[in-house]
Amino acid sequence: MRMHCLPAHRRPLPRPSRRPDPRHLLLLLLLFSATSLGLLAYYVSRSSRRVSLSSASTPNRETQTTHVPFRPLQSCSESLVKGIKHRRSTENLAPSQMKPNISGSLFAKHSWLGTHRNVPVVLLFLETHYSSLGQEIIALLEGARFGYQLEVAAAGFKGDLPSLRAPDGQARFAAVVFENVLRYVRLDGHKKKLLEKYCSQFGMGIIGFLQINEHGSPGPELPGLGLHVQTFSELKHATINPSATALRLTRPGNTFSGLLPGREWSAFHWNASTFQPLLLAYPIACQPSQGQAETVVVYDRGLQDGVQRVIFGNGLFFWLQRLLFVDILAAVSGGRLSLKLDRYLLVDIDDIFVGKDGTRMRPSDVEALLTAQNHLRDLVPNFTFNLGFSGKFYHTGSALENAGDDLLLAYRHHFWWFPHMWNHMQPHLFPNETFLAEQMRLNKQFAIDHGIPTDTGYAVSPHHSGTYPVHPPLYQAWRRVWDIRVTSTEEYPHLRPARHRRGFIHKGIMVLPRQTCGLFTHTIFYRQYPGGPEELDRSIQGGELFFTLLFNPVSIFMTHLSNYGNDRLGLYTFEGLLKFVRCWTRLRVQTLPPLAVAEKYFQLFPSERKPLWQNPCDDKRHWEIWSKENSCDRLPQLIIIGPQKTGTTALHAFLSLHPALTPSLPSESSFEEVQFFNGNNYYKGINWYMDFFPISSNTSSKLRFEKTANYFEAEAAPERAAALLPRGRLIAVITSPTDRAYSWYQHQRAHGDSTALNHTFLEVVSAGPEGSPALQALQHRCLNPGLFSTHVQRWLQYYPATQLLLLDGQQLRSKPATLLDSVQRFLNISPYFNYTQALTYEAHKGFWCIKVKEGKPRCLGKGKGRKYPDMEAQARVALLEYYHTHNLALVKMLNRLGLPLPLWLREELFTSQPR
Ligand code: A3P
Repeated sequence: MRMHCLPAHRRPLPRPSRRPDPRHLLLLLLLFSATSLGLLAYYVSRSSRRVSLSSASTPNRETQTTHVPFRPLQSCSESLVKGIKHRRSTENLAPSQMKPNISGSLFAKHSWLGTHRNVPVVLLFLETHYSSLGQEIIALLEGARFGYQLEVAAAGFKGDLPSLRAPDGQARFAAVVFENVLRYVRLDGHKKKLLEKYCSQFGMGIIGFLQINEHGSPGPELPGLGLHVQTFSELKHATINPSATALRLTRPGNTFSGLLPGREWSAFHWNASTFQPLLLAYPIACQPSQGQAETVVVYDRGLQDGVQRVIFGNGLFFWLQRLLFVDILAAVSGGRLSLKLDRYLLVDIDDIFVGKDGTRMRPSDVEALLTAQNHLRDLVPNFTFNLGFSGKFYHTGSALENAGDDLLLAYRHHFWWFPHMWNHMQPHLFPNETFLAEQMRLNKQFAIDHGIPTDTGYAVSPHHSGTYPVHPPLYQAWRRVWDIRVTSTEEYPHLRPARHRRGFIHKGIMVLPRQTCGLFTHTIFYRQYPGGPEELDRSIQGGELFFTLLFNPVSIFMTHLSNYGNDRLGLYTFEGLLKFVRCWTRLRVQTLPPLAVAEKYFQLFPSERKPLWQNPCDDKRHWEIWSKENSCDRLPQLIIIGPQKTGTTALHAFLSLHPALTPSLPSESSFEEVQFFNGNNYYKGINWYMDFFPISSNTSSKLRFEKTANYFEAEAAPERAAALLPRGRLIAVITSPTDRAYSWYQHQRAHGDSTALNHTFLEVVSAGPEGSPALQALQHRCLNPGLFSTHVQRWLQYYPATQLLLLDGQQLRSKPATLLDSVQRFLNISPYFNYTQALTYEAHKGFWCIKVKEGKPRCLGKGKGRKYPDMEAQARVALLEYYHTHNLALVKMLNRLGLPLPLWLREELFTSQPR
């Protein structure tokens, strides 16, 4: 049913609105006065016809309809900052009237949750993988770092619910989101009850979207929810309910004036006190004075059945809906999915002294910068611009611009400073630390000569060069010359999507994610902003820039000298953004010096301290800023991942015979193994790893491989390997876990492990919690690698099964040539190598060895194929029991992968009993 501005008495009304609410009347009055003021301003401005950049940044819609389509509430942002002027500004603005008041907030103590994307905390039902609303929801959840689990209707979801509780009975999800709310209301009775019981028990809620265009019309009612639905093709003037109780980030009571983006809006009416409007808007033909506002986002507080629900009467076209969606997740999840209110903002102005003639700052621009900084401190305590300089370009502009350089230096104590490269050159082009250090010393001398502080501990590299992918000489020179402790980049792990940018620490330098604000060296005129000035305004007013600040507790924005000359777009952007943020949110934005901000960042996200190295050849931008000394031909395509004592050394030795394969160089510290993905070597960086795979003309076409047998059970190894070598092939060898454990125990004894020497194998395998910590640790290291299915499953979370070859260790021992043929097929390498001819069985060793032309066969060393007494029968029984359930899981896994069961597995299961 469509209704257009019907008289109020003909519509079903929300109960609280049957009598005129004094707050609504007040709101209407405010709206009316705001509109009148706007009209007045329009006529005034038309008479003087000069459009100032400053007025474009202020919210007077009517004066700017040509280039500022979205603007904040008239009565809000105009009054926030006093006296910020741009080159073309003519007016002084009134001082801030608004003080954020969030005392008594329900959520003040909640912290960030779901900081790892893989931890699902939102159960998300989508219609298809590709729907634009679905993508928008995912982008918002990821932006807020809330993990989610997807259930997709088009992928076979028939209304079945995944298990809502963890095995210990705890809740698995903190909120449930339906892209199509009709899928929720039409759930079969039993499942709906189950879901609602879960929600009411754990104090969680449901969010749903009613998109008439996409999901069809539910008719005049949303069955079972007590809501009547009315459809409007267009709506205008959106107001956040001033008495909304569930909002935390959003400042209630503000009104967006103008047509709302998106068509076919559903509005909700009800007759129960459990409902509360969150967002209200007016039908297009109605004046605020003519009719009452329609509710387009409604909140069911759960007063009737203990289940909170929020229904959006459209998708997420409109930025206020997106803000409300992120915000309301806190309420429906009982505070589990909430963003903190504190934001740390750092604005870097890079390329000080570098800009081209005509783009640089003149003295008046420098004065404006300082004035703006002082005024912005009303909004952002301690707000200070952070200036990055390249001394070589000092005084290389016009006379006026050179005077601008001098004024910047005269005001140097008002700003923070950080070094760029002296010559603004890209460090990755210089393989040598000495040269980089020389360049840095020149810049440092410049700083000393001009009284610029040199101890801020922060630096940024031109074009992100050398920061990520890491260029080791840059990090070394930074530490040596400047004692740099913090830097920032947009490139880790990748530039896009921006919401996935993260930080890491390398060689004692904290690398922070840097955010994009849309200003580049060439962005110097408002009207020439790429895509039109509306793009910039949209980004500031509820667009990308606004959400960047909303989502990131720490935002470091990079701007350039040229953004503060000419139209001073840097000032325009940050003034506009901060006013807008103050107007619509309760965020508490402040500025901290780089070192403090970095410490704050890694306190908030401690798991990001450890880097995850990506393959630089998989990202064009990374490739371009990677030293040309490097090459992806120096990374392996195959890894033998272990586990230890399954025959991996024999496999490595035999594969090294193949003419199409090149093994890594042996490591001096860890025998032949590289040991990169599993331990601290990983923090040495990928250059360290690549040194094991030198290129030479006759090996470049060969397939490079390495073997490190304890990658297999190392928790971090699969994720790290997949990040660097996503297309790499893996080989794991599985053999009797019982025999493998005993072989490992003997290996420890042979290497003088005192715990192994002091305990029998039976004592090791049967040690309980009363055993010494050393004995327990030994037991864990001995038995853990034999939990084959657990470890293989972990690798298969990161690699497709087609890239993993599982070999039978018993066959490797008894019929290596047959097995090696299967490896050749798996790797698809040529020429075919005849292992039957290359290997020979040596009876004295009891193993297969390598034939050597005119000489004794070459067997593995005495540490491989040792002679030791048979395992004690009791220990074998204990181990067979121990591995019984794991072996059953292995059978399941092999069946699922379509692989045959090894003989030893069948035998062990046949003789063992569950423990
Ligand atoms: P034992 O020394 O206990 O017999 P890894 O190299 O992964 O550490 O595995 C060592 C085991 O490989 C040896 O354990 C041995 O059983 C097995 N193996 C398989 N083929 C071999 C071969 N051709 N030469 C020596 N050991 C071999």
